Amino acid sequence: MKINPSPEELASLFSPNSKVVVLTGAGVSAESGVATFRDKTTGLWSRFNPKELANFTSFLKDPKLVWDWYDFRKQAIHTVQPNPGHFALVEMENLFSDFTLVTQNIDNLHQRAGSAKIIELHGNIERNYCIKCGRFKIEIEELPPTCESCGGLVRPDVVWFGENLPEDALRIAWQKSEECTIFMVVGTSAEVFPAARLPYEASKNGATLIVINPDETPVSVVSDFHVFEKSGIFLPQLVNALKKKLNG
Ligand code: APR
Repeated sequence: MKINPSPEELASLFSPNSKVVVLTGAGVSAESGVATFRDKTTGLWSRFNPKELANFTSFLKDPKLVWDWYDFRKQAIHTVQPNPGHFALVEMENLFSDFTLVTQNIDNLHQRAGSAKIIELHGNIERNYCIKCGRFKIEIEELPPTCESCGGLVRPDVVWFGENLPEDALRIAWQKSEECTIFMVVGTSAEVFPAARLPYEASKNGATLIVINPDETPVSVVSDFHVFEKSGIFLPQLVNALKKKLNG
């Protein structure tokens, strides 16, 4: 593993027909002011462990408590903006015809920044559906919300601990990881499966593996490069180097 390659050195690995996959986690939203999962939680919800709230059993036991937590997180997310790392990934998407952003994040910041070629492995905090009839509910007036067509309980469209990931999302992410030539792991501890398997799949199939994270991660040992830098700092530098290289 080469440590801290320059943006130019990494840009030299890309060509216009590179097949690029980027896997992101909570770290890419850290510079927007959104706490990561492994950050110490502070304030009102600090006494709760996310695992205690982000699960279906807790939801059935106390839907109001779980909805209060998601509403609190949603309100907090609405007060922040995407950061330069999010916007750099939008620019990368437009530099390559075969580019896929696979995110574990539910905060909708990639989408607000303009990312379109995005696979949401863990869902999206802005979407909700009825657990009885499956109908999506757009407006959330009361907590916990109920379905206007069948009266069933409405839940956030996010993957909770112990739940399967959306089948199509995982299948496409897996296929893209097997076929890509460059796989970037950005802002994730790479500890939660099956998302964390994707970089190994890519590496096994010959892709160049690049990690961007201020800290070591388990996937670093099989990576070709590890950039110990914040994504909001390094990704814009990489995109500038890519533009110089690709646009001549
Ligand atoms: N730039 C890049 N990486 C950063 C930054 C930053 N500015 N700040 C923190 N990081 C890194 C941390 O070093 C850590 O490795 O981001 C990673 C965040 O890891 P986690 O908090 O574990 O978040 P994530 O990897 O997204 O968690 C995966 O676990 O809790 C479940 O479903 C949840 O999707 C989540 C999944």
